[in-house]
Amino acid sequence: MIKIARIEGDGIGREVMEAGVAVLDSLDLNLDYVDAEAGRACFEKNGTTLPDETIEIAKKSKATLFGAITSTPGQKSPIVTLRKELDVYGNLRPIKSYAGVDCLFDDLDFLIVRENTEGLYSGLEEGDSEKAIAKRVITRKASERIIRLAFNQAVKLEKESVTCVHKSNVLKKTDGVFKECFYKVAEEYPQIKTRDYYVDATAMYLLTKPQEFDVIVTSNLFGDILSDASAGLVGGLGLAPSGNIGDEHGLFEPVHGSAPDIAGKNISNPIAMILSVSMMLDYLNEDYLAGQVRTACENVLRKGKVLTPDLGGSSKTMDVANEVIKEINSLE
Ligand code: NAI
Ligand code: MG
Repeated sequence: MIKIARIEGDGIGREVMEAGVAVLDSLDLNLDYVDAEAGRACFEKNGTTLPDETIEIAKKSKATLFGAITSTPGQKSPIVTLRKELDVYGNLRPIKSYAGVDCLFDDLDFLIVRENTEGLYSGLEEGDSEKAIAKRVITRKASERIIRLAFNQAVKLEKESVTCVHKSNVLKKTDGVFKECFYKVAEEYPQIKTRDYYVDATAMYLLTKPQEFDVIVTSNLFGDILSDASAGLVGGLGLAPSGNIGDEHGLFEPVHGSAPDIAGKNISNPIAMILSVSMMLDYLNEDYLAGQVRTACENVLRKGKVLTPDLGGSSKTMDVANEVIKEINSLE
């Protein structure tokens, strides 16, 4: 039995979790789910957005599946805290265009690997209403491991190149370390092409020649911004999955939030969650099943008959999940 922590959270997090689990349950797998709470409803019930018990359950599981939460003013972000607690240092955000989906570019397939634990999101802020300072921490240890993860993904996905994104002309010390680590780790992967770009130029290239990218590796804030922008190139949040990978744990979640504007109507698009499930299967070394789930999603999107309103359809969340399950069964 593989233990999976299941945190559905709030709003459409619950709907897409039901859909993702339905797809998992249709596969020949021996999973043992352990439910855990986090988010706004959890805060109202327990006085905390992330109970210690949830952290314990996630730590004791092989992988965690996370829906989405509604943030609570004045309270710590449960997802950011959970990523730190599990030391899932690498945020994998695949950017892919799907046939049948109206998007800005129909030929993209690249991966953004974002450092999850330090950079400008180290939480080291001080100051007052006159002056405030945030510290940007870049360590050799964290840089080398995220860069190695990016190269390993390039090998696994059979990608030609890895691009390091930084701003070392201004952030000479911090991004000096990051860039130096990049070329040092690159020596271990002579078959992979390398290059480095400044982050501002990268923002332009993502709009002018995004086809050029295979794998991008970058620090926390740059990765956050570039990956949201990139999701916008290929059909939006309903299709954007992500994985958070560490040496001990993996946490998988759609990029989107709890979408209060559509929550409760059962019209949220479950594809981002189902693709996150596929990434979890990859992480569990169930490569074949991961591929089946991915292909089934691609087929459902290409056929365009069962789609949620965000993609121009009129189907419900579980209709799409059931259609993905039907596709999986027809692949076998
Ligand atoms: P959001 O991602 O929840 O929604 C943005 C827009 O995209 C909305 O119009 C929503 O209807 C649409 N959308 C998102 N996912 C969709 C899906 N699967 N299918 C169809 N349409 C979808 O972001 P927003 O509105 O900025 O935040 C809402 C709440 O979620 C906030 O409390 C925010 O803090 C939280 N949040 C949580 C995240 C997480 O749990 N990882 C990530 C981002 C936001
Ligand atoms: Mg973001």
